[in-house]
Amino acid sequence: MSSPLAQLAEVDRTIAYYDAQAETYAQDTLQVDMAPIYQRFLKRLPEGGVILDAGCGAGRDILEFVRRGYAVDAFDASLELCRIGSLKTGVPIQHLTFQEFSSEAKYDGVWACASLLHVPMREMSQVLASLIHSLKPGGVFYASFKHGEGERHETDGRFFLDMTESRLRSLFEPFSSVTINDVWISGGEGSRAGRGDWINVIATKENM
Ligand SMILES: C[S@@+](CC[C@H](N)C(=O)[O-])C[C@H]1O[C@@H](n2cnc3c(N)ncnc32)[C@H](O)[C@@H]1O
Repeated sequence: MSSPLAQLAEVDRTIAYYDAQAETYAQDTLQVDMAPIYQRFLKRLPEGGVILDAGCGAGRDILEFVRRGYAVDAFDASLELCRIGSLKTGVPIQHLTFQEFSSEAKYDGVWACASLLHVPMREMSQVLASLIHSLKPGGVFYASFKHGEGERHETDGRFFLDMTESRLRSLFEPFSSVTINDVWISGGEGSRAGRGDWINVIATKENM
């Protein structure tokens, strides 16, 4: 097992990758067409609702949500992507990690597209708890991961937690107020196509 210092280094190396590659990463991702996933998520949200884009990257989804009339808050751990995303979208993106995030229950939707996949399993329950807490009753949660088993490092230094359906479902089990609505596998949108399958989840917080 790696030491706490080495564990810290693995999270830092992931962020360092996004900081160093921010311009290229923005060019690669801003044009990706996410329409089929927006449709599954947004149909469950009230018109003009408030969305948190958690781990928003260069802001592609912020732009689309704002264009469709939603209010958007967003954060990301990469300072460079916060800078680029804020410029592109006009929405101030908070420089924050999942591990630091905390909010009152004020969001109609939490959107964590290909971002929670960088959180180690040992931290996932706490991170998930704070994201679920930030949802209003009736609020909708979306996340996507690479489909697979276990934790790994890419050769570029990024840490990944891959996910199977059973592992994903078991993550939500402790949250009795949350119902999983949909779990599905997709081949990747746009430039993500052909780079392995993704597993997606949509879940709803009970309307008390
Ligand atoms: C694969 S990108 C996805 C970005 C965006 N959601 C998209 O779909 O294009 C992963 C994002 O997660 C962010 N990230 C990685 N670790 C994070 C952490 N611990 N807290 C918050 N954001 C993190 C990265 O900076 C990066 O912007």
